[in-house]
Parts: sequence; C-alpha cells; structure tokens
Amino acid sequence: MDAYLIEGGRPLRGRVEISGSKNASLPCLFASLLTPGTVRLARVPDLRDTKTTINLLSSLGKECRQDGLVWHIAERQALGGALKEAAAPYELVKQMRASVLSAGPMLARWGKARVSLPGGCAIGTRPIDIHLDGFKAMGARIEVKGGDLALTAHKKGLKPCRYRMKFPSVGATENLMMAAALIRGKTVLENAAAEPEISDLAKMLGKMGAVIEGAGTSRVAVYGVENLSGADHEVIADRIETGTFVLFAACVPGSNVLIDRCEPRHNEILLDLCRKTGVGVKTAQGQIEILTKRNFRPKAITVKTGVYPGFATDLQPLWMALMARARGKAIVRETIFENRFLHAAEMNRMGAEIFVKGDTACLQGAPRLSGAKVMAADIRAGAGLIAMALAASGLSVISRIYHIDRGYENLDLKLSSLGVQINRFTEVQYRRVS
Ligand code: UD1
Repeated sequence: MDAYLIEGGRPLRGRVEISGSKNASLPCLFASLLTPGTVRLARVPDLRDTKTTINLLSSLGKECRQDGLVWHIAERQALGGALKEAAAPYELVKQMRASVLSAGPMLARWGKARVSLPGGCAIGTRPIDIHLDGFKAMGARIEVKGGDLALTAHKKGLKPCRYRMKFPSVGATENLMMAAALIRGKTVLENAAAEPEISDLAKMLGKMGAVIEGAGTSRVAVYGVENLSGADHEVIADRIETGTFVLFAACVPGSNVLIDRCEPRHNEILLDLCRKTGVGVKTAQGQIEILTKRNFRPKAITVKTGVYPGFATDLQPLWMALMARARGKAIVRETIFENRFLHAAEMNRMGAEIFVKGDTACLQGAPRLSGAKVMAADIRAGAGLIAMALAASGLSVISRIYHIDRGYENLDLKLSSLGVQINRFTEVQYRRVS
C-alpha cells in the first residue's frame, strides 16, 4: 500500500491540465459492448478504474488497444451467438462497483447478463435496485445464482418502456440508456439523473446510431435501433478533478492556479460558493483561475450535497477541508450517500474541529492545521485529506492511496508541477517512515 508524504503550507502556483472524465469514460467504455463495430475513445484517463473496465471488456471478447491517448476497442471475434458467458466476474466487480454498468449493454446485446453482486449488497435494496427495476420494466427476468445476478431477456428480446426512477441514480440512468439504445422503439426514463456524464454518454450513443432526447434533463427519451455501429468519441473533461484542483488552490493561502482544459459551467455552483468564501475565481473558455490572498482564511459557508446541478457529493470532503480553516462555523449536509463522513475523524487528527451527527457535519473553523499521519477511506476522502495536508503546517503522511489512484491521473506529478512537495512511497518505504 503506497503512501504520499506531503509538506504543507506552500502556496500552489502554476498551470494544471485536467484529464478526461473518469465517470464519463466508464459508461462510454461499457457502451462499446453494444456493437460489433470498433469504438475509438479519446481522452480516457489512465486510472485503476479505467484499467479494470478495459480488463472486463477484454474478458468479454473485446480487443482493447491504446494508441497514444485513444483507446481502440474492437470485437475479437464474431460474438453474436458465439459468446458463452456474458459475465462480469466477482474479481472485477469487487474492485469497482461501476462494473454493474456492463449489465445493460450485455443484456440488450446478448439477451443475458451475469454480474457478480458486490459484497454486502442485497438484491431489491441499495445499491442497484433502481437498475434492476428498470431492467424488469424492459421485460428482463432477474435471479440470484451463486452470488451472481443473472439477468435474462424475453426470447423476443427486451421491450421499450416508460420507467420512473424512485431516485435519479447516475449509474441506473446510464445502464438503462445503454440497454434502451439497442431496443427498437421509444423508451422513456423519468426522474433521470442529469449529470454532464449522462449527456456525454448520450452523445456517444447518438454517434452509434440511437436517437436520444432530453439527456441532461430529468426526462430522457431513447429511440433505440436493432444494430448500433462503432463510433469515435472524446470524453468530456473531469469536473470532479477540476473541482478538486479548485479546492486544493482555495485551501492554501497565497495560491494562484490556472486550471486548464476544463469546463467551468460544469462546476458553476462550486465556483459561486468559492467566491462567497472570499476565494478569487476567474473563468474563461476552458479555464478557471483560482487566487487566494496571503493570510487568507475563508468565510464559513454551509453546503448541502445534491444531484446535478447541486453541490457534488464527490467534492464534499474537499469542501470540508476548506471549511476546516474557515472563520466561524459551517454546516455540511450529505444527502446522496450514507456514511460519507469517514474522513472527518482523520481531518480532526490534523487539527480540524468537526462534529458529525447522522447526515450532518458541523465544522468550527480552526486558524491552524498541522500535518499528521492519516488514512484515505475512499477516492474523494483521500483527496480531501490531501487538501488538508496542503493547508497544514509540517509533514503529513497519507496512506492507502490506492483509493486515490482509482480516480486521479498523475495526481502527484500535477501537484509537484504546482510547487507542492509531495513524494510517493512504496509500502516498504512507508513502514520505514512510520
Ligand atoms: C456516480 C459516480 C459517483 C458519484 C455518484 C453521485 C460514477 C462511476 N460514479 O455513482 O462518483 O458520487 O454518481 O453523484 O459515475 N442508489 C440506490 N439504488 C440504486 C442506485 C443508487 O439506492 O439502484 C442510491 C445509492 O446508494 C446512493 C444514491 O442512490 O445513495 C446515488 O447513487 P448513484 O447516483 O447511482 O451513484 P453511482 O452511479 O453509483
């Protein structure tokens, strides 16, 4: 388990380029299962989660080749009737829950799909009941066999439907849109998620031959076709990585960072909130500039996470890092995920004063943070701890950074280029410093 050693308290200065979106790349990669044609996907970030997805596609008979920044995904053989098993095995699903996004394309293309159930997750309840109810509305039969979900389409195939989601789940919207693209006729998804990654997937499915209306709103209509073709597509900039660098710079006094190749309108709420705290924010086409004064302490601003265009839950730990040094008291309410405050206790070890009760965290801003040894609990909690370490005085060691590797491309190199003292340690080296 590698770790980062960070020396805090140094302003971030310079330019950083944002990678392609992880959360857009995953569904776009899975969409390649819908076609025997070749899909060429550009700007896919080099991450553990994209590698897991490529491994899964390979295990399903796709030939995946990287040419510079473009992934070429072709069919290894004529898979139509020849495919023995349309299955996402446990080894891959346990590494990445988003593996469930293979279910919709496999079911629509091959009439069957087996997806291992992620540990601790019961059928019919969280976290994939909305996906499954949608497949049922399309006429699929769902059973649990040997720890796997076995999905089977009617022998005449899936049928178009109108399905109202009980919650606008991002993954379920994507999974159902992909299946619907290969069902002849009109499928309507109501109370759908409206995240930019969904609009990006719709754009790609459109290039493959489906017609999709309303992506990016709560009502998505998919006019599916019998066969989809290959396509060339470039994924959008990663709005969560963008927000991460906005908040990294915002957390450290005296910073001046130009965030390049991003999409400022995908982070509007975050940028407005940052302005309210006193952070200098300038935007231009594809760019955001963040400026903080020397001796800057942010004004305390309360936020509540929400579905897009609300405040992104993935940026919540980073907002907590900003509020840890605020003047006054801020409240952070998490409405999307339960139990998403695992970072609070680690932040308190660095001098934050955070009290968590249920879905609400109360932060009493502290003038000074100090470096400590802390552990990342998930991708974004890890990013939040890095933000704390950047603002803290002295050295911090952040362990379990394999979580961070799942979602951030070259994070240490990007931070180094902004003047941060950051070193990556292997497990053996880490044991020596700890
Ligand atoms: C995606 C993002 C993740 C982000 C999240 C919310 C990817 C790969 N990941 O995750 O980074 O934090 O959106 O913006 O794109 N739920 C159910 N039943 C379901 C599906 C979801 O109860 O069938 C619940 C979840 O447990 C959670 C909430 O709905 O509490 C949101 O989940 P969802 O929008 O599906 O998130 P993901 O697609 O998993």
